This record gives sequence, structure tokens and C-alpha cells, in this order.
Amino acid sequence: MKLFTIIVATVFSGMYFIPTEKIEFSKESSLTDVLIALGDKKPIHYTKVSSPELIQQGLEIVTKGRTTAPNGKKSSLQSKYFTCIDCHNIMMEDPDLRKSDPEARLAYAVKNNIPFLSGTTFYGMVNREHWYNEDYQVKYGDLVKPAKDTLVNAIHLCTVECSQGRAFEDWELEAVMAYLYSIEYKLADLKLTAEDYVKLNGYQPNTKNEELIQWIKSFYLQYSPATFLDPLSEDKRGYGESGNAENGKLIYEISCMQCHATGRVTNYTLDQSKIDLKHLKNNIKGHNHFSLYNITRKGTYALPGYRPYMPNYTLERLSHQQLEDLAAYINR
Ligand code: HEC
Ligand code: HEC
Repeated sequence: MKLFTIIVATVFSGMYFIPTEKIEFSKESSLTDVLIALGDKKPIHYTKVSSPELIQQGLEIVTKGRTTAPNGKKSSLQSKYFTCIDCHNIMMEDPDLRKSDPEARLAYAVKNNIPFLSGTTFYGMVNREHWYNEDYQVKYGDLVKPAKDTLVNAIHLCTVECSQGRAFEDWELEAVMAYLYSIEYKLADLKLTAEDYVKLNGYQPNTKNEELIQWIKSFYLQYSPATFLDPLSEDKRGYGESGNAENGKLIYEISCMQCHATGRVTNYTLDQSKIDLKHLKNNIKGHNHFSLYNITRKGTYALPGYRPYMPNYTLERLSHQQLEDLAAYINR
């Protein structure tokens, strides 16, 4: 089914009132099903088109950039430079979905053996209501405006601008959406108490349960906040004095090395050797782009002829303290 058909089908199904039986919600219930049963409006990207094959295709596109196309052939790589998981996790990454807290996220990442990245996780992406928020809107204006309320537009934007690749074909988008719905939030992720389930299951079917809808939405963020920072001026930098080098080492390993390890997305390779760390250490002062304080907050840009670039870390993805921790590790 083409995306167009999905949208038309969604619009039409929303127009008729189909009485439904009351469902008993449990930990396994998917958040979308719950909200729809409570009478909330279906999201524009809502789709019921799914199958294990489609989900598998979507997973492969996201993690490998290609999959087996409907014609049986291998599809072309979405991007020569990146796959989505260079910058986005596909597992839950925030222990408390009501907060975007980089300290809690780092501890959670270490515990669960997942990377610590600059983009938000795909887990629960379909449950959000806005994308490319706050400073992304301020900084990129018209380019990101269409992505603010429309997930499909956000995906299109990121395939081209973030991944430096081609836009998805319709069948690829359908597969990726099916995959994203397979990793949407379950009620268990909201950590409701037994009493909360009783309260929720007291809903009235076939009517809008506005209070319950708002209450359920208070258990998770509807969007990922994003604060861009200018690099700290030299007199404001701690150069690691108040940093925790052990923590810095973790960030270096599960964030920087994700892209800078040999054979990954950049020519500027980093490892734990004294030479690499010394190069970063020697450049930490000043404002050239080898300075940790500059590169993390500003990132780099894709250039004609050399597309790989480094996304900046917003405050929500790397805290001031974590930057000091990195500095402490590098200066050690
Ligand atoms: C080079 C890094 C990079 C790559 C590769 C990348 N993204 Fe992103 N993406 C980002 C950053 C940074 C953001 C900014 C907002 C955020 O995620 O918090 C973003 C945002 C998004 C958003 C909106 C998220 C939100 O909550 O605002 C979607 C959806 C998205 N990307 C999808 C994709 C898909 C699909 C792919 C693979 C085809 C992809 N991205 C590849 C870096 C990347
Ligand atoms: C999503 C991938 C990605 C992540 C994560 C990442 N980088 Fe980068 N970084 C790049 C790319 C791509 C470049 C462009 C330079 C190149 O490839 O030659 C770059 C450039 C740099 C440069 C400047 C080198 C130059 O030639 O301009 C430094 C220094 C750097 N990164 C350090 C870091 C540190 C420290 C971290 C962790 C906090 C980090 N990077 C995380 C992809 C990444």
C-alpha cells in the first residue's frame, strides 16, 4: 500500500464512528492502542500496515542502510556515509521517559551496553508528537519547519540532510514505519503502578477520555528538547579540573569512538592510544575545531566532495559536566 493510500485510509477511518468493545490494558499494551481507545486523535503517521517481513526490512534499512527490495533484489544503500544507527539508538535510552537527562542516560547506556549518541533513540519515535524541536527550529528555520509536526517529514529530512544520502522510496518508508511501530512504547515503559492500571482501566469506551489522555501523556515527553550551545570561552572552561576522568573515558568509548574508531565513518581516527589523546590534549585550548570544547558544541559540516560530518551535541545530549569529564580524561 502506498503512503497516499495509508493517509486516505486513516482519514476515512477517523470519520466514522465505529463502536468498540472495552479493552483491558496491561503492561504489554502498546501506547498507540491505549490512546486511541481513550479517544485520542490518531497521529498523521498512524499505520496498521505491518508484517514480520516488513518489520525486518525496516530494521535492515535502519541498521544496514539496505535490504531485499520487493522485486527480490538488494536495494541500493540509502547513504554511502552513514546508517541511521550511527547517530540514533534503537533501544530505550532514558530510564525515566519524562526527562531528557544526559547523566541518567549515560549511566543507563553503560548498564545496557548501548552507545551514547547525538540523535534521539528511535524507540518510541512514533509516540512523539513533535520532531526537530526548539533550537533545531531556531537554527534551521524553514528547512526543519515541515518536520515539526509530521514524523514522515522528519524522516525525509534526516535521510537527506543527516545521513547525506537519498530519500526513501515509498516501500522503504512503509517498512521503516512498520519497524518504528514495532518499537513503540508499551505501557510497561511508563512504569505505571498497580493503582495506575486500575485508574486507566476505568476509562469509558467510545468517548473522549480527555483527562486520562493528558494523564497518560504526563508519563513521557512528547518531544525531545534541544538546546544548542556556543563553545565555552577559554576563561569559562574547566579543562577537566572538576571532571571525572573515568566517566570521560566511558563517553569517549561509547560516543566518540562510535564514529572515530578505525573503519568507521571518519578519516580522523581516534583510539585510546597516547598519541590520539595527546593530539586532543594539545588542542584543547583555543578555538580551532580540534578543541574538544569547540567540536562537541559546533560539530562539522558536510562538504562537497567530503560528506561525512559530525553532528553537534546539544546540552540534552552532552551536559557541561560530561564535557568536563571528557576533558579530564583527555588531560589525564
Ligand atoms: C550523522 C548523524 C545522523 C544520521 C546518520 C541520522 N540522523 Fe536522524 N537525526 C540526527 C540528529 C542530530 C537529529 C536531531 C534531533 C534529535 O534526534 O534529537 C536527528 C533527528 C531525526 C528525527 C527526528 C527526531 C526527533 O525526535 O526530533 C528522525 C525521525 C530521524 N532523525 C530519522 C533518521 C533516519 C530514519 C535515519 C537513517 C536513514 C537518520 N535519522 C540518520 C542525526 C542523524
Ligand atoms: C556521528 C559520528 C561522530 C561522532 C559520534 C563523533 N564524531 Fe567527531 N567527527 C565526525 C566526522 C565525520 C568528522 C569530520 C572529520 C573527518 O572525517 O575528517 C569529525 C570531526 C572531529 C574532529 C575534528 C577533526 C577534523 O579533521 O576536523 C574532532 C576533534 C572530533 N571529531 C572529536 C570527536 C569527539 C571528542 C567526539 C565525542 C565527544 C566525537 N568526535 C564524536 C564524526 C563523529
